[in-house]
Amino acid sequence: MILILVLALAVQIFAQDETQFIYNGFQGSLNKLQVDGIATILPNGLLRMSNHTPASLSHAFYPHPVIFKPNHLSFSTTFVFAMFPQVQNISGHGIVFVISPTTNFQHTLPAAYLGLFNTSTNGRSSNHIVAVELDTVKNPDVEDIDGNHVGIDVNSLISVDAASAAYYSDKERSNKTLLLNSGKPMQIWIDYDEVEMLLNVTLAPFRDPKPSKCLLSKHLDLSAILLHSMHVGFTSSTGLLSNRHYILGWSWNQSGKAEDLDTSKLPSLPQDKHQKQILNKLIFPVLLFVVLLLLLMIAAAVWVLWRKKYEELVEPWEKEYTTHRYTFKDLHVATKGFKKSELLGIGGFGKVYKGKLPSISHQVAVKRVSHDSKQGMKEFVAEISCMRRLSHRNLVPLLGYCRRKGELLLVYEYMPNRSLDKHLFGKDDEPNLCWSKRYNIIKGVASALLYLHEEWEQVVLHRDVKASNVLLDAEMNAKLGDFGLARLYDHTIDPQTTHVVGTIGYIAPEVSRTQKPTTSSDVYAFGMFLLEVGCGRRPMGKQTDDVAEDFLSDWVYDCWRRGEILMASDPAVEGDYQENEMELVLKLGLLCLHPKSEERPTMRQAVQFLNGSATLPEIPSDYETVSGIFFGEVLGKSVSFPSYPPSSGTISHGDMSSTNSVLQYGR
Ligand SMILES: *[C@@H]1O[C@H](CO)[C@@H](O)[C@H](O)[C@H]1NC(C)=O
Ligand SMILES: *[C@@H]1O[C@H](CO)[C@@H](O)[C@H](O)[C@H]1NC(C)=O
Ligand SMILES: *[C@@H]1O[C@H](CO)[C@@H](O)[C@H](O)[C@H]1NC(C)=O
Ligand SMILES: *[C@@H]1O[C@H](CO)[C@@H](O)[C@H](O)[C@H]1NC(C)=O
Ligand SMILES: *[C@@H]1O[C@H](CO)[C@@H](O)[C@H](O)[C@H]1NC(C)=O
Repeated sequence: MILILVLALAVQIFAQDETQFIYNGFQGSLNKLQVDGIATILPNGLLRMSNHTPASLSHAFYPHPVIFKPNHLSFSTTFVFAMFPQVQNISGHGIVFVISPTTNFQHTLPAAYLGLFNTSTNGRSSNHIVAVELDTVKNPDVEDIDGNHVGIDVNSLISVDAASAAYYSDKERSNKTLLLNSGKPMQIWIDYDEVEMLLNVTLAPFRDPKPSKCLLSKHLDLSAILLHSMHVGFTSSTGLLSNRHYILGWSWNQSGKAEDLDTSKLPSLPQDKHQKQILNKLIFPVLLFVVLLLLLMIAAAVWVLWRKKYEELVEPWEKEYTTHRYTFKDLHVATKGFKKSELLGIGGFGKVYKGKLPSISHQVAVKRVSHDSKQGMKEFVAEISCMRRLSHRNLVPLLGYCRRKGELLLVYEYMPNRSLDKHLFGKDDEPNLCWSKRYNIIKGVASALLYLHEEWEQVVLHRDVKASNVLLDAEMNAKLGDFGLARLYDHTIDPQTTHVVGTIGYIAPEVSRTQKPTTSSDVYAFGMFLLEVGCGRRPMGKQTDDVAEDFLSDWVYDCWRRGEILMASDPAVEGDYQENEMELVLKLGLLCLHPKSEERPTMRQAVQFLNGSATLPEIPSDYETVSGIFFGEVLGKSVSFPSYPPSSGTISHGDMSSTNSVLQYGR
């Protein structure tokens, strides 16, 4: 029993002789540090030596004394600390590692005195104090070398050796400075060898291995300074300006090298308010900037897309036509984005949409003509400009145009009753037209063509007269539309495959040969139009079950030759029509369809016949229907036609000598 007691005592003595401990954080009640002043151990185990209280001091000591036997003064210690300045780079004093005979520092002073001494005790050999200061203020009174240094103090604030905070980087083989009050944790090693009498101080950033070279290595004989029983710990002081001082972990050994701290167990530092401020000051604007930049980019992308969507083609020469020009955006909005529901029809040249422009009280029809070639566009736009000036009550008013890449948009007045062919050939979807209205329409179209051919300042060829190009307004008045569009296609001809523009059945035979449209080729088409209206039939295709003719003109001609031309009249107006008017229309139709252009009446004559102001001549005895000639001269050269009605009205064939402008025949 006594033996055990003696042994236990011996162990204790041994333990007391050669104290060794390690704090990976200061939590727990075992060997709780003895603190005073404003020092406190935070719940996470962090030892806070000072907050931002100015002119404060604090101490934290290992609770038991350590014994330096006269013949065993060696020690090794290391700790991790961090100092946060209140204002960047301006800070209040520092942390000191101290070996002291007492833990009573009641009469010591803060600030430059570092909580170690007062004015009278500073420098006294009776102090028996060995300290390593981490000083962030340059105090000339105590011969500080700078405001960021590590110093070895013996009994006095005037360091026996000091160096600017730095460490030797083994990796880079060079000294690197450290900023003590940067808020970054750092580790310091203090080693004393009593044989060599060397006190080494080594500094490094936290988590770096201990550098091979120390910052300070001072020859010191501590035998007269270190007493038998001493206390080890830290002091911290702040001045006018203050730092927050923290110690994260500490290890002490008198029997060998201080054990390495377990970095994973060390408490974490509180987030620095100042850093938060920096974060707010920096991150927030950066974030804002990034967000703004992103928004800007999105806006730019939207703008680019928007631009692309409404992109138009404007060339310098178009300046003079700007008054007739609509923006694509307006047309896009007017037609609800060219919505299917607004589609009025698909013509030979493109789709037609209904629209409502804010600048015009009434509705418009917008025709989208796809047109890839730039060629001829200038002339065409010039003609549009001319056509805008065309003003006749039987012409669809052209309001203006818009041009995009590969596309031309023409804006016309909207005709609520659509095209005539819908009424003539429509399958019950439009009410049938009575004869008086039909006759009125015929006279209207004749009058419009007369205007184009003879009454305007220039000769304008329509080139595509047919029932589907005759539109009807609210009062069922005829309005001839689409004039001159054929012209656009003249310019885009590929020399290899030339086109004759127009609609099969309406193309005068000589145009097929010469490709030269004339007023009399318009008359030819008008003749076909007359038969269409009178007979209620299309120019080509099976006419009736009992009549085998494929060509309307042949059929009407046959009826005439048999002396019963009224047999050809539309059964839908049977009993409704005036016989003399019907006969006039059918006969005039045949005359206009004369294969020889010079034999056809002019539009002026046609109008006179229709008005009754001139008498229609008899159909000549040598009259031959066109189809025979047509077949003989054109189809004979192995050109095949699709059966009527073809979806697209253009045919192509044969060599081409020249192209003519609609407005070529200026007067
Ligand atoms: C803070 O001090 C360091 C070292 O003295 C210097 O490099 C740095 O520029 C200073 N920063 C400010 C903001 O003054
Ligand atoms: C300095 O401290 C000592 C005790 O450490 C005390 O006796 C003395 O009065 C103090 N002097 C001043 C000026 O505070
Ligand atoms: C590093 O600093 C120490 C003193 O602090 C000096 O002796 C040594 O030469 C320096 N080494 C280099 C590589 O600059
Ligand atoms: C102190 O440093 C010197 C060289 O700088 C070295 O020779 C000596 O062993 C070191 N002593 C301790 C106790 O680390
Ligand atoms: C002290 O040093 C001895 C010998 O190197 C070692 O065995 C022991 O673990 C160390 N203890 C501490 C707490 O550093």
